[in-house]
Amino acid sequence: MNETAAPARRHPPRVFSGVQPTGNLHLGNYLGAVREFVRLQDKNLDGVEFEHRFYCVVDLHAYTVLQDPEALRTGIRELTAAFLACGLDAKKSIIFNQSQVAEHAELAWIFNCVARIGWVNRMTQFKEKAGKNRENASVGLYAYPVLQAADILAYRATHVPIGEDQKQHLELSRDIAQKFNHDFGAEDFFPQPEPLIRSEAARVMSLRDGSKKMSKSEPSDMSRINLKDDADTIAQKIRKAKTDPEPLPDAADGLEERPEARNLVAIYAALSDGTVDDVLTQYAGKPFSEFKPALAELAIEKLAPIASELRRLADDPNYIDQVLADGAERAAAIAGPVLRDTYDLMGLLRTRS
Ligand code: AMP
Ligand code: TRP
Repeated sequence: MNETAAPARRHPPRVFSGVQPTGNLHLGNYLGAVREFVRLQDKNLDGVEFEHRFYCVVDLHAYTVLQDPEALRTGIRELTAAFLACGLDAKKSIIFNQSQVAEHAELAWIFNCVARIGWVNRMTQFKEKAGKNRENASVGLYAYPVLQAADILAYRATHVPIGEDQKQHLELSRDIAQKFNHDFGAEDFFPQPEPLIRSEAARVMSLRDGSKKMSKSEPSDMSRINLKDDADTIAQKIRKAKTDPEPLPDAADGLEERPEARNLVAIYAALSDGTVDDVLTQYAGKPFSEFKPALAELAIEKLAPIASELRRLADDPNYIDQVLADGAERAAAIAGPVLRDTYDLMGLLRTRS
């Protein structure tokens, strides 16, 4: 977790994060993101007591590139199910779907008029995603981080758990909040949201190539452990994971030039809630033929309950839809008044309550 200026006192501490509903969740998403959400749900941070936690399925962000409607519908429900299966509790957190709360899109428009083209031009993710054919990227892909600012600020969220890659987007959110407050003479109207950056240890790499992130877009399914994988599949993927012929070293610096070995040890450490050194204390000098079965056993122990809960929830789409409907209602009850105050301040008339 990193440190930036503390949020202004007036704003009660609230957590907001979002995940796109595109494709199955894998071990990287779990260890790097959703498990952090679960931790923030159950504990407070360094004495900060959170008033609300919002975990949002950001389907409008997914639409910055064309989606297949049927696959998206499934993806929204699957991601919601994965949130629940990983331990998010719809009573403790507000779990909802972005497009079901119209305030996100409304505030995004306002922020489009606050953000400067020069600011958005600097976003490296847009440059990466648009690639060479920038003229052909959607306007939505360009405005993506502005919608992200709206997600966060519609709830006046103060703490945003994200990966390192999203840091720049969060800085833009802070700039937008500050310019809005300044333009409308309302210091502190929106808070300056603070990133909660996950440690590098939370970066899970591909099982086939230790220099690449585990990713849903990697063609080989053997490169990742999906949360849906059954025990045999998990065991097989770990058995076939790329390694080197050396035994495990006795300290973390012995893994420096060994990305695949380091990844497997880091996964073990993360799943066992220990450190890389803890794992090496236990396995120093042991070959992979011994370490891999131990890792497989641990992974199955931790992930099998999630997979079975995912299967159970997949058979109950009505329940998932109900969770999302409740979440949207609770989210809208908070975002609605923020939008009303925003419109008021701007001289816009909002006749609906
Ligand atoms: P994505 O699947 O890329 O949309 O990412 C969803 C969330 O999971 C984001 O918060 C990412 O930072 C996180 N994430 C994705 N892949 C990994 C990975 N290999 N290791 C750690 N975190 C990841
Ligand atoms: N852009 C984020 C990602 O790709 C997802 C996201 C959308 C988000 N809105 C957000 C994350 C608001 C944090 C807060 O991971």
